[in-house]
Amino acid sequence: MNEGVSKKEQASQRFSANIGVFRCPICGDGFVANTGGVRCSHNHSFDLARKGYLSLFTGPQATQYDKDLFLARREVFAAGVYDPLVREIVDLVNALNLEKPLVLDAGCGEGSFLARFHECVRDANLLGIDISRDGIELATSYHEAVMWCVADITRLPLRSKSTDVVLSILSPANYREFQRVLKPSGVVIKVLPGEDYLREIRQRLGGIAPYSNDEVLAKLEDSVDVHQKSPLHYKVDVTPKFWKAMVQMTPLSKHREVVGEPPESLTIDLQIIQGAMV
Ligand SMILES: C[S@@+](CC[C@H](N)C(=O)[O-])C[C@H]1O[C@@H](n2cnc3c(N)ncnc32)[C@H](O)[C@@H]1O
Ligand SMILES: [Zn+2]
Repeated sequence: MNEGVSKKEQASQRFSANIGVFRCPICGDGFVANTGGVRCSHNHSFDLARKGYLSLFTGPQATQYDKDLFLARREVFAAGVYDPLVREIVDLVNALNLEKPLVLDAGCGEGSFLARFHECVRDANLLGIDISRDGIELATSYHEAVMWCVADITRLPLRSKSTDVVLSILSPANYREFQRVLKPSGVVIKVLPGEDYLREIRQRLGGIAPYSNDEVLAKLEDSVDVHQKSPLHYKVDVTPKFWKAMVQMTPLSKHREVVGEPPESLTIDLQIIQGAMV
């Protein structure tokens, strides 16, 4: 962080420099920025929090992801569990050879993915959006170079044709909105769990049906012209302490008891799909 410049001031500068890509989630008009936040021509105003994120969501916080889950997820990220995924996506985005692209992480959670991504991707404007204030507040502990917003992906606070890349990583997608905000040359990168994803956790939680991504994939293929589909399958070592975070980082374990001993390893099975909106 620049000496003497607060997180809020840095965020304010960054949002001001990119204000043209945002729009009011209430009326759809553009914004003007000031040090306290942003305001549209209908006087809908949204605050920039002291921690350096913009609140562009006014509805109720109905999410199954709470702070403990995000903290566990952060611990798992920090241990490198998703490093192979980060590398794959960095390569995909770098291969697009875009000049200063706007990359949106739609449903960025506590921000670990985008923070890692920032370390590896050349010269991009990065925007992380999540409906969870807990998630975004944690995300602001990462890079000031990323713009963080509390917002709803079903009503993205972005202008039409403003965005080069939409990342949707293990998060819900809204393809109508992705299509609206992406430039005609824009790319969507979706990461879905495969049927073996977190298999060892599922096996130890009673009553969980085997996972299939068929339905999610069918919905995606209705909206996305798929250019590339790559499976990513690997195992990570488990230690007892780490096992606790792994179990806690998934909403699958909410209200369910894990039974049995920790496994020696945990399976990460993902599908990475790249395409353009149809
Ligand atoms: C499984 S988490 C994945 C988070 C992050 N991509 C990661 O891999 O760590 C799904 C995220 O989607 C967010 N989410 C769910 N519905 C949303 C919505 N309508 N708008 C924005 N974010 C949403 C949740 O708050 C949660 O952070
Ligand atoms: Zn407005």
